Formats: sequence, C-alpha cells, structure tokens
Amino acid sequence: MKATAAAHANIALVKYWGKRDEALLLPEAGSLSVALDKLLTTTTVELGDFAADSFTLDGHPEDPCRARALLDAAGIRKRARIASGNDFPTAAGLASSSSGFAALAVAACAAAGLRKSADELSALARIGSGSASRSVPGGWAVWEDAFARQVFAPSHWDLRFCIAVCAAGPKQVGSRDGMRATRETSPYHAAFIAQCRRDLPDALKLLAARDLPGLGALAERNALRMHADALAADPPLLYWQPATVACLLALLELRASGVAAWATIDAGPHLVAICASSDAGAVEGRLRSVPGVTEVVVCAPAGAARVLS
Ligand code: DP6
Repeated sequence: MKATAAAHANIALVKYWGKRDEALLLPEAGSLSVALDKLLTTTTVELGDFAADSFTLDGHPEDPCRARALLDAAGIRKRARIASGNDFPTAAGLASSSSGFAALAVAACAAAGLRKSADELSALARIGSGSASRSVPGGWAVWEDAFARQVFAPSHWDLRFCIAVCAAGPKQVGSRDGMRATRETSPYHAAFIAQCRRDLPDALKLLAARDLPGLGALAERNALRMHADALAADPPLLYWQPATVACLLALLELRASGVAAWATIDAGPHLVAICASSDAGAVEGRLRSVPGVTEVVVCAPAGAARVLS
C-alpha cells in the first residue's frame, strides 16, 4: 500500500488558458508541451487507516484537497499519506503542479495496486491540475480532451529550454483563478482561444519538421497573446516582473546578433528561452547577465512519469 513515482514538469508552447468544464478540468482549446528533465517531482503515497489525508511538499504541510479529488476519481477510498519533493537545483519558485499531480496519479494507483493505462493515468492527473495531464506521457505532448498523449519522443529534437528565474514579486494569482477570471472578464479571450485552435496544428507541423524559427516564433506569439488576454482581464492580471521584460528584450538582441532563441512565459514571472543545444551556452550566459535574474536552469526534453518503487 505504498509506492513512489517521479514526473517531470512541462512547459507549454501552445498554452492552456481557459476551461470549457470547470468541474472536470477540460480545456477550451488543445495545448502542446514538452517535459523538462531538470524539473523532477518525486512523490510517495502510502494508503492506510489514517485519521485524515496528509500532504507535504518539500517537508511543509499543504492542503490535501486537490489530491483527494484525484484519489476519489481513481476510486481510492483509503486515507493517504502523501510526501512530495521537488528535485530542482534551487528553491526559486519553479514548483509546478504539472509534475506534482502527474507523480501523485502514478504513485497513488501503484500504491492501491490499480492497473491503469497511460491514458487513464493522464486523465487522473488532469483532475489535480489540467497541465499535469501532459506530464504523464511526457516528451512532446498534446492535450485536447480527457487525457494527453505523447506526439513525439524526447529524442525527436534536442532543443534546450533555459529557464530564467526572475525575482519573485508580491504573491500573484494562481493559474486556476487567473484563467477563470480571464475567461469571465477579458474581452480578448475568445480571440485567444480561436488563435490557440489555429496554433496547435501549425505547431505540430513545425515540430515534425524541426523548424526552430517557426516553432519558436509561434510559441512566443502564443505566450504573449496569453498574457495580453490576462492583462485585459478585470481586474488586470500582470504576471511579469521587470526582469521578465528585460529577458524578452535580451532575446530580441540575441536574435539580432544571430543567436536563435524565443521566449515562452507561464502564469508567473519566469521566462523560458527555447533554443538549439549548440546555442544554450550563449543564451544561458546572456540571461544570467540580466538584472533581476537570480538563476538560469537549462533543461532538455524528458520522458514520461514512472513508478520508482
Ligand atoms: C499558464 O494546469 O496549473 O501554465 O488546471 O486550473 O490546475 P489548473 O491550471 P494549470 O494551468 C497551467 C497554465 C499555464 C499554461 C499551460 O501549462 O498550458
């Protein structure tokens, strides 16, 4: 009744920002992501006759409510002791619900002795957090409906993803509340969703062709449009810090000097630069020199969530 699993966080190149079903966590539009090797979460689940569920993240107690929703969806009635740890090089605010709920879904089903398919595990992870559905298959993954699927293996394309950790500001609005507020109040939201529906098939073609300028530029446009949508919410959602903008400008300069790198940004201040592995050193060095950037983590594509023991 005890198992440990690991999963990588993922970064979306076509973003999920809006639900068509709030209870089932189904997205309004499909999204595309890649799993990141350096962002690994390891989770141990023990099932038993405990007084209550408990959940610790890096040793700190957290609310087990979303984890319980996932366990209920799996048909696991026993109480759970969940211990999760992020294996990140720094404690710099890179914690991600994508790796956390993917590792939880895999560990919980293993602990309960449930034999689930990869598609079923992805659908369970989705109940914890939509983006977690993509961390179960890992690699280059597409999520449109109940579960996500790997569309290309991590080895398909040896790109690098340089995460510039931008000084954390005052506590921001999380993805769940942020995307709900955007959907309800942003006049640009329908346009953003329509754009995502066009971006996904285009991105898949560019990914198949390993077209870095094409996919990089598409991912950057998609992310900036997501932020334009969020900025247009009422009240506005501004996720960026000064260092985020400085990193965007640094990438413009890099491109002007012949180094091909494009940005994506989730619902937070950190910027992820997408580039060829041969350019990763130059991109990392430039981002490290940006005032306000406290750390740069260079990641390669990673694989699926897995049971460790
Ligand atoms: C900006 O998956 O964290 O990272 O489904 O409400 O838990 P919930 O949201 P979550 O949102 C991720 C938003 C994003 C874009 C993405 O990963 O596609």
